[in-house]
Amino acid sequence: MSASSSNPTPPLHVAVVESEPSARARLAMQLGSGVLDFEHFDDFAAQLSGIPTVVVLGPSCADPYNLSTLAAVLQPRPEVGAVLVAEELSTDVFQQAIRSGVKDVLAAPVDTAQLQEACRRVAESVGSLGRTLPPIIGDDGDPGEGGRVITVFSTKGGAGKSVVATNLAVALAMRTTETVALVDCDLQFGDVAVMLKLAPQHTIVDAVNSIDRLDSGFLTNLLVTHPPSGLKVLPAPLEPAFADQITAEHIRSIIAGLRSVAKYIIVDTPSYFDDKVLTLIEDSDEILLVAGMDIPNIKNVKIGLQTMRMLDTPTSKIHLVLNRANTKVRLDVSEVERTLQIKAETQLPSDIVVPQSINKSTPVVIDAPRSSIAKAFETLADRYIPAPSGKKGRR
Ligand SMILES: Nc1ncnc2c1ncn2[C@@H]1O[C@H](COP(=O)(O)OP(=O)(O)OP(=O)(O)O)[C@@H](O)[C@H]1O
Ligand SMILES: [Mg+2]
Repeated sequence: MSASSSNPTPPLHVAVVESEPSARARLAMQLGSGVLDFEHFDDFAAQLSGIPTVVVLGPSCADPYNLSTLAAVLQPRPEVGAVLVAEELSTDVFQQAIRSGVKDVLAAPVDTAQLQEACRRVAESVGSLGRTLPPIIGDDGDPGEGGRVITVFSTKGGAGKSVVATNLAVALAMRTTETVALVDCDLQFGDVAVMLKLAPQHTIVDAVNSIDRLDSGFLTNLLVTHPPSGLKVLPAPLEPAFADQITAEHIRSIIAGLRSVAKYIIVDTPSYFDDKVLTLIEDSDEILLVAGMDIPNIKNVKIGLQTMRMLDTPTSKIHLVLNRANTKVRLDVSEVERTLQIKAETQLPSDIVVPQSINKSTPVVIDAPRSSIAKAFETLADRYIPAPSGKKGRR
C-alpha cells in the first residue's frame, strides 16, 4: 500500500496512529513507503485537510476512551476511512469501533497481506467521494462467480448453527447431482465431522498448508464424502490449536476456490465475530442467522444484526432462522420479529429427534425424514433447489 505519490488520481494519504513505537513502526513498515505516522489520534486529526485518507489505528487506540473520541473525527469525514488493529477482538471492542465509524477491525498481530487488503477496500470507499462506503459485495447479492455461498451464523452459542448447516447441506446434496460442499469454519470446536460420522483424512488445515496451489482439482481431493448423501465436507482442524494458523485471507481463498468446485457451499461458523467470520459475512451470498427462542438469544442476535447493518451487509442477504420456534416459552414469533425488525422466514420446531439424531451421527433429514423438523429443513432447502417431484407435498 503506498501513499499519495504513487497514486495520483485521486490522491490518497495513508497514516498509522499508535502510541507504542515498535508497534507503530511495524504497522508503518507493513503499509509501505510514504506512510504518515502519529503517536496520538489528536495529532492525526489536527492535520486532516480534506484529502482522502486511510488510517490504520494500532492496538493502543482500542481502549474505550480512544474509541469514543474517534466518532467525532470520523463520522463527519467520509473521506477518512479507518482500520483498527486490536489486540483483543472482543465483541465490545468490535462494536464500539464500528459505531465510531471504523470500517474494519483486524486482530493483532496482523499479517501484511491481510492489512493491505483491508486498507485497499477502505481506500476504495474513501476514494469515491460522495459515497460513504460502497458495498464490497454488489447489492444484487452476487459477490462472486460460481457456486453460491451460504453462511450459517449466530451470535449465540448453541443456537443450532451446526444442526442447520448439516441438515441443509445434506438435504441439498440429496436433491442434486451437482456438488454441494459443507465447510466447518468453527475452527476451534467444529463438530460437523462428528455430526456426520466422518473420519476425515484431510481438514481445512491441509487447504491452508497448500494455500498457493488451491486449484479445483486439489480442493476436490481434500473434501471428504458423506456417503449417504454425497455431500462433500471440508472439516475443521482436528486440534483447536491449529485454528491460530488460519487467517481471514486463507478463509477467503478457500471459499473462493470452492466456488469453482461446488454449486452450493454451506459454511458453519463459531458464535462470535472475528476477522474470519467478518470475511465470511462479506464474501457470502447469503447469511442464515440462527436464533433460539429465549431472551439472551434474541438480545445477542439483535446485536449481531446491528453489527452486520453497520458493516453495510445488505439486508437482502440476511435470512433469519428461528430455531425451536414452537417452544412454549412465552415468546411469540411476531414479538421476536418486531424486536429484531426482520421477518423469520424460516421457523424450525423443537424436536426430540434432533438430539437423538445427533447421537446417531445421522442428520434428521435422513434419520427421521417424516418428522416436523426434517420437513422444515426440506422447506428451507426448497429456497435453493426445488424438491424433486413426488416430494412436493410432504411439507
Ligand atoms: N430444533 C431443535 N430441536 C431440539 N434440539 C435442538 C434443535 N436445534 C438444536 N438442538 C440441540 O441444541 C444443541 C446445539 O445445537 P448445535 O450444535 O447445532 O448449536 P450450535 O449453534 O452449532 O452450537 P455451537 O455454538 O456450540 O457451535 C444440540 O445438542 C441439538 O441437539
Ligand atoms: Mg456448532
